[in-house]
Amino acid sequence: MEGILNQQELALLPSGFQVIGDIMIMKLKLPLLKKKEQIGLACLELFPHFKSIFINHGKILGKYREPEKIEFLMGDNNPIVEHIEHGIIYKFDITKIMFSKGNINERKYLSTLVGVKEIIVDMFAGIGYFSLPIAKYSKVEKIYCIELNPVSFKYLCENISINKIKDKIIPINGDCKEEVIKLSNSGVRADRVIMGIFPAPKEYINVALSLVKESGTIYHYEGVIEKENFKELYADFEDIADKNGCQCNLESKRFVKSYGPKLFHVVLDIRVIKNTTDS
Ligand SMILES: C[S@@+](CC[C@H](N)C(=O)[O-])C[C@H]1O[C@@H](n2cnc3c(N)ncnc32)[C@H](O)[C@@H]1O
Repeated sequence: MEGILNQQELALLPSGFQVIGDIMIMKLKLPLLKKKEQIGLACLELFPHFKSIFINHGKILGKYREPEKIEFLMGDNNPIVEHIEHGIIYKFDITKIMFSKGNINERKYLSTLVGVKEIIVDMFAGIGYFSLPIAKYSKVEKIYCIELNPVSFKYLCENISINKIKDKIIPINGDCKEEVIKLSNSGVRADRVIMGIFPAPKEYINVALSLVKESGTIYHYEGVIEKENFKELYADFEDIADKNGCQCNLESKRFVKSYGPKLFHVVLDIRVIKNTTDS
């Protein structure tokens, strides 16, 4: 980069970049944007195994948790990747769908918690972030994957085929608030409910509780906390469960990633038991 950038500009270069499949995604500070083409070209020369380079200009936004603006910079202008992680192929469009590198451990770890013949409802399934590894690595019986965004849903279905796990997953395109009730009314009871959206919306806990098995269902509940204060997040869930005639027990808590100054993205595993007999 030395022939391209002066000393001040060199100091502004990012310390790293995101790798998704054979695509490099970098963030560039404003003063470097005027030299983005030269930087892109130099990166492709330095790292010839990348097919293309994109610039991430924004955050993850909205109810679909979509990238705000990812711009093509250099190489092959095709944003669709097949990213391999823990032996799972995730196919998706990087300009339309998020893929958080900070959640890498949780994506695999969750599959190790799943017991034999469990029934799972993944309420915010996305492209199969959690469900694909569970289907591939655990002895799960069935996973109901609910996804609202039609673009993510399309890739979820493709990923189920590519990873050859069609017998394990039932994909459902819709709002989980309604779809969970339909599942519940049709008699589905879960061993595990994944509320894998950050932060998981409190107003969805009610419907999620309709899937409780008498013997206890474990809820994967994501949220944001300050310092080590897990209590508040758990108390919110416990309060709603209590109002719905359910008892809670906090089985475990995990740190996922740092979210900001003194803020942390965490996951709670909460076991819920119905007080009354399931009707
Ligand atoms: C981005 S994923 C979460 C990713 C995962 N926690 C991770 O970081 O690996 C959340 C998904 O929930 C979907 N979603 C949002 N609201 C929904 C709803 N009401 N019903 C079903 N899916 C929903 C979004 O479209 C998105 O694909």
